[in-house]
Amino acid sequence: MLEARDALLAWYDRHARVLPWRSAPGERPDPYRVWLSEIMLQQTTVQAVKGFFETFVARWPDVAALAAASEQEVLSQWAGLGYYSRARNLHRAAREVAARGGEFPRTPEDLAELPGIGPYTAAAIAAIAFDHPVVPLDGNIERVAARCFAVHAPLPGSKPLLRDKAQAFAGADRPGCVAQALMDLGATICTPKSPACALCPLEEGCAGFKAGIAASLPAKTAKQARPTRRGVAFVAIRADGALLVRTRPAKGLLGGMSEVPGSEWSEAFDASKARAHAPLSANWVKTAGVVRHVFTHFALELVVYRASVPRGTPDLPGMRWVAPGDMHREAFPTVFRKVLAQVPEKLLDFSGKSLRKSK
Ligand code: ADE
Repeated sequence: MLEARDALLAWYDRHARVLPWRSAPGERPDPYRVWLSEIMLQQTTVQAVKGFFETFVARWPDVAALAAASEQEVLSQWAGLGYYSRARNLHRAAREVAARGGEFPRTPEDLAELPGIGPYTAAAIAAIAFDHPVVPLDGNIERVAARCFAVHAPLPGSKPLLRDKAQAFAGADRPGCVAQALMDLGATICTPKSPACALCPLEEGCAGFKAGIAASLPAKTAKQARPTRRGVAFVAIRADGALLVRTRPAKGLLGGMSEVPGSEWSEAFDASKARAHAPLSANWVKTAGVVRHVFTHFALELVVYRASVPRGTPDLPGMRWVAPGDMHREAFPTVFRKVLAQVPEKLLDFSGKSLRKSK
């Protein structure tokens, strides 16, 4: 294994991806940036996180700055990245770390005590920020380990076995680089479909390659189909340009985020009764097509109605009229950005460009 690790590190020194949260060679990584990037990368691709990360650290360059922000500001900045409980936990963790002088815990066990940090993230931060000799097991590393050790058992059941196998790469020599080298190898060479084994520093010791089965691993247990839920959303625009908005319940999917009013989302939704869910009586116009969005556990299809309502339309319980100039402060998740994009720009005149660009 020592030889394999050396080969891996030599490969990493030449081919490491340049990513904004990584430190320059020879420089100590900043635990704040490592932690932040690992939270952002939990359910999001490197490509999507890159620009996001840079904007975020430009606004909040250290843990004290982030702790001083309000939760609403953090949620709003997070909008578009999805899985918003991450943002809430991030903010809580920032406050906990700031409260103890800005020092992050250094071991996986202690890191896992912070909100939003599970076993993978704890291991990744400990390895990358503090050179703790552990190999975090993400999807890329799972694949590398399944192939290297020719593990035939299917995922997700084989996870504990793969975690054990992957620890063969752990050691005192540059653990953070080993972890990131395995991530990069999985992302660029040991790819899911056509691995470029000829370019791989681990080819010589790879049992999957030797057996000619690398590309077929890891095996996966067949997935349950994702159900489709349906619902309706209502975009009410007052004559002064204000939009009718409410806040989702704090707990649950998209908790605490902004939305326009609408129905529950369910597999049994009856589209012929969609108008019965309208928040107020108005001349509702159905917009063309449907908004589709895929969540982890279900796909969503929303029909969208819009209406222009008079200036004097009063407030409704649990809802508020948001003026065009205040719209950028609302934390609309991606699905509701898609809903708002259904409405002609000239009606929804809040210079919604900044709202609409992130997908
Ligand atoms: N995925 C999760 N953490 C990562 C990291 N530090 N570098 C690249 N990809 C990652």
